[in-house]
Amino acid sequence: MSILEVQNVNKSFGGLKALHNVNLSVEEGTIHAIIGPNGAGKSTLLNCFIGKLIPDTGTVTFGGKSLLGMKPHEINQTGVSRVFQTPEIFADLTVYENVLIPCFAKRDGSFCLNPLKFVKREADIHDKAQHMLEDVNMADKRHMTASSLSRGDKRRLEMAMCLAQDPKLLLLDEPTAGMARADTNNTIELLREIQGKRHITMAVIEHDMHVVFSLAEKISVLAQGTVIVEDLPENIKGHPKVQEAYLGGAH
Ligand SMILES: Nc1ncnc2c1ncn2[C@@H]1O[C@H](COP(=O)(O)OP(=O)(O)O)[C@@H](O)[C@H]1O
Ligand SMILES: [Mg+2]
Repeated sequence: MSILEVQNVNKSFGGLKALHNVNLSVEEGTIHAIIGPNGAGKSTLLNCFIGKLIPDTGTVTFGGKSLLGMKPHEINQTGVSRVFQTPEIFADLTVYENVLIPCFAKRDGSFCLNPLKFVKREADIHDKAQHMLEDVNMADKRHMTASSLSRGDKRRLEMAMCLAQDPKLLLLDEPTAGMARADTNNTIELLREIQGKRHITMAVIEHDMHVVFSLAEKISVLAQGTVIVEDLPENIKGHPKVQEAYLGGAH
């Protein structure tokens, strides 16, 4: 069953057509990669999923509900979370303090300030933070300062913070960009573990083909603002249209 459905999406910036009749369908519980040369329209498309950009025409639905017209925080409340290229963590706090923050926050971004409610919920919140760290294998690093972590562990911490929001769909924009091979492999392993444990649907924008072919169950290839192929990884490798797009692109 498809959870994220993009139909005939068009987006122009002035005279430049960044997205042209884009169609894409992400199946629930799968990892779907969106690849393509620089300037293909990947970030523009992702921004249309999170309310940062509004398509000129076309539809984007999540779980059957249109995301168009929703504000970014409303989209987040429906269960869509985004992981940025650089982990969004609080460098001077400990690992545990970092993960406590989203556990305290409610879905609308506000915090639980009612002291009576807070007392009742405090134990639950600490339980949740502990579980999130266990889920990403970081429980033994809970007292470390976030800035002292390796790039791969920073990504693990960020994922724990993201999981605390109980997302149904994770959007990942080049989650391994700038990482050394060991950290990249650590991140691949992490995403596989999370998907295995929680069956969260993931849409991953990625340049690194090692990551794409290690993770993706389905791949959409964007070129010049349009999806030229959507297929299984084994059919993408060596596909003439894909090779042509990459050779013709800036990548
Ligand atoms: N805010 C913007 N204003 C004008 N042009 C933009 C803007 N954002 C992206 N573009 C252009 O749209 C095209 C697609 O960009 P982008 O979605 O960033 O590609 P990708 O993420 O695949 O590298 C590019 O030609 C880019 O220069
Ligand atoms: Mg981009």
